Amino acid sequence: MATPFHAAVLLILLFISATTSSAYKAQHHVRSSIKAHRFLGKFSQSHNKPSGPNIQQYEYETRYFEQQLDHFSFAKLPSFRQRYLINTKHWAGPSRSGPIFFYCGNEGDIEWFAANTGFVWELAPQFGAMVIFPEHRYYGESMPYGSRDIAYKNASTLSYLTSEQALADFAILITELKRNLSAQASPVVLFGGSYGGMLAAWMRLKYPHIAIGALASSAPILQFEDIVPPETFYDIVSNGFKRESKSCFNTIKESWNAIASKGQENNGLHELTKTFHFCRKLESTNDLSDWLESAYSYLAMTNYPYPTDFLMPLPANPIKELCRRIDSCPDGTSIFQRIFEGVTVYYNYTGTVDCFNIDDDPHGMSGWDWQACTEMVMPFASKNGTSMFPVYEYNYTADEEYCLQAFNVKPRPMWISTEFGGHDFKNALRTFGSNIIFSNGLLDPWSGGSVLEDVSETIVALVTEKGKTSCPL
Ligand SMILES: *[C@@H]1O[C@H](CO)[C@@H](O)[C@H](O)[C@H]1NC(C)=O
Ligand SMILES: *[C@@H]1O[C@H](CO)[C@@H](O)[C@H](O)[C@H]1NC(C)=O
Ligand SMILES: *[C@@H]1O[C@H](CO)[C@@H](O)[C@H](O)[C@H]1NC(C)=O
Ligand SMILES: *[C@@H]1O[C@H](CO)[C@@H](O)[C@H](O)[C@H]1NC(C)=O
Ligand SMILES: *[C@@H]1O[C@H](CO)[C@@H](O)[C@H](O)[C@H]1NC(C)=O
Repeated sequence: MATPFHAAVLLILLFISATTSSAYKAQHHVRSSIKAHRFLGKFSQSHNKPSGPNIQQYEYETRYFEQQLDHFSFAKLPSFRQRYLINTKHWAGPSRSGPIFFYCGNEGDIEWFAANTGFVWELAPQFGAMVIFPEHRYYGESMPYGSRDIAYKNASTLSYLTSEQALADFAILITELKRNLSAQASPVVLFGGSYGGMLAAWMRLKYPHIAIGALASSAPILQFEDIVPPETFYDIVSNGFKRESKSCFNTIKESWNAIASKGQENNGLHELTKTFHFCRKLESTNDLSDWLESAYSYLAMTNYPYPTDFLMPLPANPIKELCRRIDSCPDGTSIFQRIFEGVTVYYNYTGTVDCFNIDDDPHGMSGWDWQACTEMVMPFASKNGTSMFPVYEYNYTADEEYCLQAFNVKPRPMWISTEFGGHDFKNALRTFGSNIIFSNGLLDPWSGGSVLEDVSETIVALVTEKGKTSCPL
């Protein structure tokens, strides 16, 4: 579905594409899944406000609400201000039980999501609904401890950044807001995409008395433990390329070994730096591989059938264009040159970039990295044969090492399925759940971890076979 959502995604790519590596990676060749996680936490590294020609500005009032830092203990802790955006213009009001459309804020500045979730805004007048966009704690302006620097300082200050705390924030906000407005009878409908879609579905399951239903878009709630195979994500991305061209898929697949071997040669890193037009010398071939992997993965998430031009302009069907460039190089062209020609579709479509920057130094840890290192432990792997990415097996120990080093925290890989379910999900939901719509585009790499079949009459899957957007909201 064509929505301004892609605009935000594209902008964020700019921020993320530069920040894929870390000091950790330079010392280890074992792959941690945390990197692949960044493709889900795509908003978390941007601290910028929405801007630019294509950003739609919807009308709302910005308010703040005092929240407990820890809803699950009675420890004396500072409270923090949660930001929320609200529009009551079309609301039918309490006497007519006008509904409340509630967007479950995810890992980023809430104004981003408000500006890019046209669906909710467009629907509201028809339903006489109030619209609320609450911000997720630890993102945007909703910072505990008064500043991002302190909130993100260490494992103790970050420990209140969990999905359970975020859902409790939402539950308390809704309850109090309804009381203030004498709107107890107004039904609340939840919306969300990506991690926000997971929150919407989980909120409906955990707080059925607070929300009457949820629309969870591109919500990979089954991407935990062994519920779906860990290869799912990269296989879907790879299929998008294979569909366009088998030889393109093969060229990309063969490139990783070629790059690694080149790096072993005396002048290899220098030559690769020149071929790929990097501003400064590559320190390891891993950096180059990461840079390429990011481009391919984001293209799979933004493979729109029409040109998009929001800071990061892309042609229509950019994967097709990338493959056309790789395939149409004259015989005898080196594999490096082919890969370079292809990836410029993503990094230099306008032809205005002088040299490419690989920024080795991520600007601090993102909130999503913390979430991936605690609760959101999603296994990823890349399998020879179906995947065009470098082959690697899921290695939980590698994730654990990464997280201990990055945050001094040990992940709890079984917690999400314990808290929200996942194994035998259908049976549980059929018996205890209702009123959830899972919507997915099948070309979206996240669809593999989502619910793609109806569970019951009131828990349904809306599947768009050729849906390409990451979050069709
Ligand atoms: C974490 O940072 C906070 C805020 O600066 C500080 O009070 C606390 O002692 C630190 N905790 C650890 C375990 O370093
Ligand atoms: C409800 O009203 C109280 C008192 O005016 C106010 O302090 C509080 O922020 C309001 N809560 C919400 C969610 O609007
Ligand atoms: C970007 O494209 C332009 C036009 O094709 C080209 O002149 C320039 O060298 C490219 N930049 C990089 C970094 O390759
Ligand atoms: C992938 O499988 C092919 C065919 O079985 C084999 O030739 C190749 O070496 C394998 N590649 C990796 C990276 O394991
Ligand atoms: C998994 O990662 C750990 C830690 O980096 C490493 O010691 C181990 O050899 C890896 N296991 C496999 C099967 O690659």
